[in-house]
Amino acid sequence: MKEFLICPSILSADFARLGEDVSQVLNAGADVVHFDVMDNHYVPNLTIGPLVCQALRADMDRRGLTVPIDVHLMVKPVDRLVPDFIKAGASIITFHPEASEHIDRTLQLIKAGGAQAGLVFNPATPLHYLDHVMDKLDVILLMSVNPGFGGQSFIPGTLDKIRQVRQRIEASGRDIRLQIDGGVKVDNIAEIAAAGADMFVAGSAIFNQPDYRAVIDQMRAELQG
Ligand code: DX5
Ligand code: ZN
Repeated sequence: MKEFLICPSILSADFARLGEDVSQVLNAGADVVHFDVMDNHYVPNLTIGPLVCQALRADMDRRGLTVPIDVHLMVKPVDRLVPDFIKAGASIITFHPEASEHIDRTLQLIKAGGAQAGLVFNPATPLHYLDHVMDKLDVILLMSVNPGFGGQSFIPGTLDKIRQVRQRIEASGRDIRLQIDGGVKVDNIAEIAAAGADMFVAGSAIFNQPDYRAVIDQMRAELQG
């Protein structure tokens, strides 16, 4: 696995030509497809579900693109959708702990289906949800905006939270990815990496530019810099 993973959020992609747009961003060097699922209940927006995930997975497979689909569930309740997304080809499934009645059960459900599992923390969600489940996590996702919309500004207080989570991951001795989602751009990605993140979700910063490769190359240059 690479040290740093760039994960375009397809929330900012062109949904009318999703397969084509995703293939363009993957051919431009992206590592993971970030798939934002919103239910107009847990978050005030409505997006896409397992049917679109399945169609996208099939389209990527046809094009020979083996990149993982990372499903970020912003839904409540959570469990009902987990088997559907596993069947639809999700490689990673993350959910917000306060949206699940039984966090450990949801994690087990994801892992039993063969996907990687992660918890997502909103800017004001406390980290104590990590206390008893570190051994079941493959990913910890810190939101650096309030979930629901693309194109918002990075909340600077997240940097300190990244440092805290990085310490907890090191103390656990486990191989857990630390993903950041919201307002990630070329001009702040280095600072976010320095705080301890290694997986970077970026929607508007990539899809709102005409040349995806140029943005991704600039992000990688910042990360190596
Ligand atoms: C927000 C979503 C994000 C969003 C990020 O609720 O989880 O993945 O698409 O968009 P940008 O990168 O534009 O902040
Ligand atoms: Zn997301």
